[in-house]
Amino acid sequence: MSTALQPSPFTVPSNLPSIPHVSETDPTRCVLDAFRTAIAQLVAEALPPLTVEQVYQGVDYGKKGVDFTVALPRFRLPGKVDELAKKVLSKFQPNEWIENIVHDRAFLHFTCSTSTLLSLVLNQVHSLTYDTASKQPEYGQNSSGAGKRVIIEYSSPNIAKSFHVGHLRSTIIGAFLSNLYKACGWEVISMNYLGDWGTQFGLIAVGFQKYGSQEELEKDAIKHLFEVYVKVNADAEKDPEVKVEAAAWFKRMEDGDEEALRNWRVWRELSVRKYEEEYARLNVHFDVYTGESQVGKEWQDKALDRLNTMGLIDDHEGAKLVNLEKWKLGKAVVRKKDGTSIYLTRDIGGAIERYEKYKFDKMIYVVASQQDLHLAQFFKVLKLMEFPWADNLEHVNYGLVLGMSTRKGTAVFLDQIIREAASVMHDQMRKNEVKYNSIEDPEMVAQEIGITGVKIQDMGCEANQQLYLQLGSHALLRGRHRPNPQLFPLPPPSEINTALLSEPAAREIVFLLGTYPDVVKTAQRTHEPSGVVTFAFRLSHAISSAWETVVVMGEADVEKARARMWMYICARDVLGAALRLLSIKPLERM
Ligand code: ARG
Repeated sequence: MSTALQPSPFTVPSNLPSIPHVSETDPTRCVLDAFRTAIAQLVAEALPPLTVEQVYQGVDYGKKGVDFTVALPRFRLPGKVDELAKKVLSKFQPNEWIENIVHDRAFLHFTCSTSTLLSLVLNQVHSLTYDTASKQPEYGQNSSGAGKRVIIEYSSPNIAKSFHVGHLRSTIIGAFLSNLYKACGWEVISMNYLGDWGTQFGLIAVGFQKYGSQEELEKDAIKHLFEVYVKVNADAEKDPEVKVEAAAWFKRMEDGDEEALRNWRVWRELSVRKYEEEYARLNVHFDVYTGESQVGKEWQDKALDRLNTMGLIDDHEGAKLVNLEKWKLGKAVVRKKDGTSIYLTRDIGGAIERYEKYKFDKMIYVVASQQDLHLAQFFKVLKLMEFPWADNLEHVNYGLVLGMSTRKGTAVFLDQIIREAASVMHDQMRKNEVKYNSIEDPEMVAQEIGITGVKIQDMGCEANQQLYLQLGSHALLRGRHRPNPQLFPLPPPSEINTALLSEPAAREIVFLLGTYPDVVKTAQRTHEPSGVVTFAFRLSHAISSAWETVVVMGEADVEKARARMWMYICARDVLGAALRLLSIKPLERM
């Protein structure tokens, strides 16, 4: 559960010119907001009747080498852009917020005061990482979701069937979204909606009598049930009698026949336990394991009643359906002829039940785009039923591309995917013998990097070399943290002289760190992990290229070495936070 973050008023340090407060900004969590405000203030003063708030919306990140840029035409002011730019330039005096302005055609490029930037960003990273009661690293977090609750449903594999790429992507994206919403102050309930109901369980019950083994089941329930399922399916292909038997068995389950349910219960329980272990290896956790079997019959019945009274149900040869053709969503069957429940109705009833239980402000379903129609149908049905919260349902979808985990096309279980990824990584690591031999626990590192590779690829990025770099730089900085009597312990931040960080490479790292809270916000708005992945790559790249020139070991000036070390520690912490947001475990050492 999340800890609600309280926005505290930003007090401008006494040596800096005061700035106004702009709504929706929070310099106590994102100090770059203060620089943007200072820029907006300057431009607004030079160009009445513009207000600080108006200009603020137009202060964007600049291209390479530029901190911020304002495109003047966007304000639609009368007069030539050149004149407008000149007005701003003539008002400008370098100060502790803005060091320089460059006028380039319709643009004004701003450079933040380096000394202010270094000191404010690093102090903010440090204080938000270490001085909090929760002891949770929280630089980058914001409180925009304070007091709001979101249910995020993801992964949702089908018991006894294969765990395919679709489930893997759902798991990875869903875990990311859960972390992200928490980072934005939401209370998050992560939910796994297992495919644990349906005729296939009748089939397995029939098959289990013939092919089942209690011992195998206890060893690896997921694998064994899958084997049974494959075998009995083959039987059913040949012998229609098997299907009839299976349907009869499932009907007994639906009717609540205890005897028919007993085995199923064990299968479910053992499968969940196995899944939990595997999710833990992926650094993924669920607050609630639910499933299709858990949707109360009464909720489905109530939903059907309501649809009936609202006149939304058509009867078609005994089956009940809702006509959604007006919205190009076809005809949705909500009850079969034989009265057994179906996937769609369980989702409709399930959503109502969840709302009654959790009163969520938003509910997100992370499901492959193959099910776009299904999701659109059940969202629409809920909307037609006039539930006001139906507007707060969201489908996060994704297409399926084959990643490294599934390249061979043989993986059907989650643990296979993990093992395969680890072995691909292990092979790659062995290619560099010297480096390989210096790694303390290559198996563990291979697995962690393998898993990271799967995740990164799944988030739509090229992994491999870059990936190595990224994890490497976190581990590298961990390693450098070992006691060095000359430098450690570092003095408190107030005694560290950040002005000694005069190299452009250091400034670049610090500015990047400053952008992290924005990276988090943007990711939440777009539901896209790629911005966070790109940030992590850029930061690790900046760190490793600075490491050779902005040195700590071998720097004779202890003050300077300390300032640099402190910057690297801040960078490592932010990189670690970004990796954790992606549900990647930062390596402590390699
Ligand atoms: N178990 C389903 C499948 O594997 C995914 C469930 C998606 N969630 C939902 N509420 N329908 O296809």
